[in-house]
Amino acid sequence: MSEKVLTIAVPKGRTLKPLARVLEAAGFPTAELLSDSRALVREAPAATADAPPLRFLLLKPDDVPTYVEYGAADLGVVGRDVLDERSSDVYTPLDLGFGRCRLAVARRVDVAVTTDRPRVATKYPRTALRHFEAKGQDVDIIELSGSVELAAVTHLADYIVDVVETGTTLAENGLTVVETVSEVSTMLIVNRAVYKLRAAVVSDLIVRLERAALV
Ligand code: PRP
Repeated sequence: MSEKVLTIAVPKGRTLKPLARVLEAAGFPTAELLSDSRALVREAPAATADAPPLRFLLLKPDDVPTYVEYGAADLGVVGRDVLDERSSDVYTPLDLGFGRCRLAVARRVDVAVTTDRPRVATKYPRTALRHFEAKGQDVDIIELSGSVELAAVTHLADYIVDVVETGTTLAENGLTVVETVSEVSTMLIVNRAVYKLRAAVVSDLIVRLERAALV
């Protein structure tokens, strides 16, 4: 493997297309990244003679910070929601500007929450607990892995904490936002050692992506 290569952990799924647009604008070929292949490692040749070739690792979003923190990837692309939940020890030098949404508390439209100790269902147990603790509100957290809205619909939980983008999923399930927990967008993250030891090549990539993200 070439020492020049920068390895980037990226989430499979909806992030790939907007990420590819930024990479294209920065001059990196993206055909491999977007191909239908089942390969989990994808290569992108250098954009110019002085730019590094990129190697992409395709992962579940939750695993991206782990690969970067432990150095299996030099950099990563991940939502701020995942980053906050994992509290990973990585640099976050750049907001890539896409994937904007928010993390919000929601409840059923038709049932007021009256209990002193509500149940809160979420894929973000640490973030949710931090949010309610900061308000001095006792809660029981129920950790789920998807379709979180259903927990409020079925009365498994009084509240949910989940990602809201268009609001359609909440509306179509009879739920409403109570409050915003945090604003979310997609971040570039960098392994701390790599950030120091490969400062020039990493800084150059950050500048290229920053310019491209503004386009
Ligand atoms: C996410 C999130 C909400 C939905 C919000 O779910 O958990 O359910 O998108 O988007 P909206 O406000 O535009 O409707 P995702 O599709 O990732 O699936 P999941 O429920 O399995 O997490």
